[in-house]
Amino acid sequence: MKTLIIYDSLYGNTGKVAQAVAKGLVGEVKILRVSETSAADLRSADVLIVGSPTHGGRPSQAMQQFLNAIPAHALGNVRAAAFDTGMPMDNKQGFIRFIVKFFGYASKRLASILKSKGAIIVAAETFFVLGKEGPLKQGELERAAAWAQGIIGTANRQPNLDSIR
Ligand SMILES: Cc1cc2nc3c(=O)[nH]c(=O)nc-3n(C[C@H](O)[C@H](O)[C@H](O)COP(=O)(O)O)c2cc1C
Repeated sequence: MKTLIIYDSLYGNTGKVAQAVAKGLVGEVKILRVSETSAADLRSADVLIVGSPTHGGRPSQAMQQFLNAIPAHALGNVRAAAFDTGMPMDNKQGFIRFIVKFFGYASKRLASILKSKGAIIVAAETFFVLGKEGPLKQGELERAAAWAQGIIGTANRQPNLDSIR
């Protein structure tokens, strides 16, 4: 099974989560920063994992541009998972709490773009940073590796044909 992880990261935290996700996976895993990814890289992936910092409730500009440029249906039959990094809702600064509650996290939008390109979404998750520049909340890298293991389980599961009559 070939997994491609594409991520963006302004301060490095999402990059660390991407590395932790890779550690949780088996088989061939390739990690690319979105700025060095081309559409051709997508072709050989059985599983695609996309990660971005949350910027105003959305993925980074570069990630949005990259994903939006993928032709419709190009990800047909590709299992995909999305993750973001963002600030927890219990942040002490009221303004941040408001922004997070109001705009939500980027992973939902990542998943919806991937789905619109034909991908089968198997997971979407947020990993938390304690401030704009980090650090990651304690335990998040371990949680990311465990999350990745869960994705493989889901990605390998075949549809139960007996249940389709
Ligand atoms: C321009 C900008 C907008 C942001 N907007 C949000 C937001 O809407 N919600 C949130 O939870 N965090 C927001 N953040 C904090 C980012 O989530 C945080 O910088 C990011 O997770 C750090 O990841 P990185 O080190 O990979 O860049 C924002 C940060 C920046 C720089």
